[in-house]
Order: sequence, then structure tokens, then C-alpha cells
Amino acid sequence: MIASKDRIAGTMEFPPATPQPNIYPLSWQQKTAKLEEVWDSAQREYWDPKKLPWDTFRPSAYTWEQREAMAYWWTLLSVFDASAPPVFASAFIKTYEAHEEDAVRRCFFSVTRDEQNHEQLCGLAITKLLEHPDPLTYQPKTDIGRKASKNAQWLYYNGGRYWNGYKAAVPKYSLAVLFSSFLMGEIAAATIFHQMAAKCKEPVFQAGFRNVGRDEGRHMAICMALMERDYPKMNLSDKPPITKQIRAGFLFLSGVLYEPPEDFWDIPADFISNQREIEACARGAGFHIPEYETKRENWRNAMLNLKGVLDKYGIPFPAIPEVGISGQEVTDVDMKDIIPVF
Ligand SMILES: [Fe+2]
Ligand SMILES: [Fe+2]
Repeated sequence: MIASKDRIAGTMEFPPATPQPNIYPLSWQQKTAKLEEVWDSAQREYWDPKKLPWDTFRPSAYTWEQREAMAYWWTLLSVFDASAPPVFASAFIKTYEAHEEDAVRRCFFSVTRDEQNHEQLCGLAITKLLEHPDPLTYQPKTDIGRKASKNAQWLYYNGGRYWNGYKAAVPKYSLAVLFSSFLMGEIAAATIFHQMAAKCKEPVFQAGFRNVGRDEGRHMAICMALMERDYPKMNLSDKPPITKQIRAGFLFLSGVLYEPPEDFWDIPADFISNQREIEACARGAGFHIPEYETKRENWRNAMLNLKGVLDKYGIPFPAIPEVGISGQEVTDVDMKDIIPVF
């Protein structure tokens, strides 16, 4: 019970103003029509990972090497997709704290929900392929499996460092800065999933990738709509952190879209050669992971896409020599203030 000295209702007719920002807006402003459209399609396109055609999937049709190799790729993806639900849940809370318009709150809710689906899909694929629900405690059956298991431990270790950085970064930056980091991950994700869907042989994975790719396209549209709304009136002081976050995002997301750069990812010397061998084995099983050159080309195109968006608002793009893009030199990127998400 409230102590009687704290009770005020008997002393005034209306309560004093609630200190702002208060977590709940109690208002349903409608401003950005595009976001309303995206929300409607998120409702229409909602899917259930359990209801994919798993009954057509026979893991025993593959060798153990192939199963372990494919599970490795899903594990690599999980390092990004299994952190996405809490990451977007934090952004979702931030939209309430910032009293964002109603459709923005709903859109971030849908992204959180979608990412939870993507995580479920990773879990289902890994569990069926390995007959074990956890790639970290799985006992490998082949040499490929042992390499995959070692790489998985290092991926997990590196991904774990990201979360603390993210938690510290979210309150520090405005939503405008966050959107450009998110957009980067969404452009990258949409690219890879559409490709995997187009070329992967296994029907259930094809269906999964198609759905995930469609979700990522919507996430991209959300970020774009918000940037179009906010960037023309953006604070000049928000521009330098965006440039830096794009460079950080490139380094972080290269882990899944390209190859993890060793100056940023703390990985053993044999990591990349092991990963190449594992990926080749998965490709042999009809699991289409783009080849090195295609990955580089994809990543370059995704970056150029993003550059096109940022150029419009006069935000300097960082130099990305790894894929042949010149721009502003950014050198002091650290795991400890990384925002990008997948
Ligand atoms: Fe995702
Ligand atoms: Fe996404």
C-alpha cells in the first residue's frame, strides 16, 4: 500500500504531469503511411517455421560430412540470428521510450517476431541435421564435423562479445543512427537469403530461405521509410557515428556474408581454411553457399546500395577496401560499440 504521506489524490483534482520520457506513450499517432503498409504485409506474410515441409526432409539421404557441413552454416547463421530477437526487442523498447508513432512500434514488434522465427528455423535445421539440439555440445562424427565444431566455438565466443557492446550502444545513440546500422544488416540478409533460396536443392530449406528473405526485405523497407522520414532533418552530430557504424557493420557482418576479417574477429589461424573446406562440402550436398568471389560481389553491391542511400543525405561513407570501395578512413572500430544486426 502507498504510504499515506505519499498519497496526493486527496489534495488535487488532476495528477501532476508524468515525467517524460515515460515508457508508454498512450497515443497512437499515424504519420508514415508506408510503415502502415509494411505492418499489413507483415501480418499477411507471417509464417510458422514448424509448418515448413519438414516431412519431405530426409537427413539420412546425406552423408554425415554433408550433414555436419550444412549444420555448420546454420550455426554460423545462428550466431547472428539467435542474437537478433533480444537485439530487436531492445530496439522495440526504445521505440516506446521515444514515443514513436504507432506504426513504428508495431513494425519493430514485427521485426522482433520475425527474427524469433529465423532463430527457430536455425534451431530446427541444426537439430534435424545433427540429431542434437546444440552445435556446441554436439560430438562430431567426422573430420569435417570436428573442424566445424572448433569453428563454431570460436564463432560463439566472438558473438558473445557483441552483446555487451550492443547493450551499451543502444542508449547512447539516437534511433536515426540505429536505423542505418539496422539497414545495413537487412540489405545484407535480404541478398544472401534470396540467393540461397534460388539455388538450394533441399525443398524445406528453399521454402525457409524464401520466407526469411521476404521478411528481411520488409525489415529493409522499415529502415528505409524511417530514414526517409528522419534524415532530411537529422542532427549533424549524428553523421560521424553513422559512418563509423557502417565500417563496424561491414567488419561484423563479414563473418556471415564474406569471411571474418582477422583484425576484428578473434579467430585461430586455421579458421578460414576450415570454413572454406566445410562450405565446399555443403555445396557438394546441393546446399548453395555462394563461392568466395560471389560473396565478395554480393557484399560489394550491398555496400554500394547503402552508399547510395547515405549519399542522398550527405553522410560520408567509410572506405571499404576489402570490396574495393573508397571513402572516409575509419580505423578505430572496436567490438565494444557495435550496433549492426542481421
Ligand atoms: Fe533475420
Ligand atoms: Fe532482419
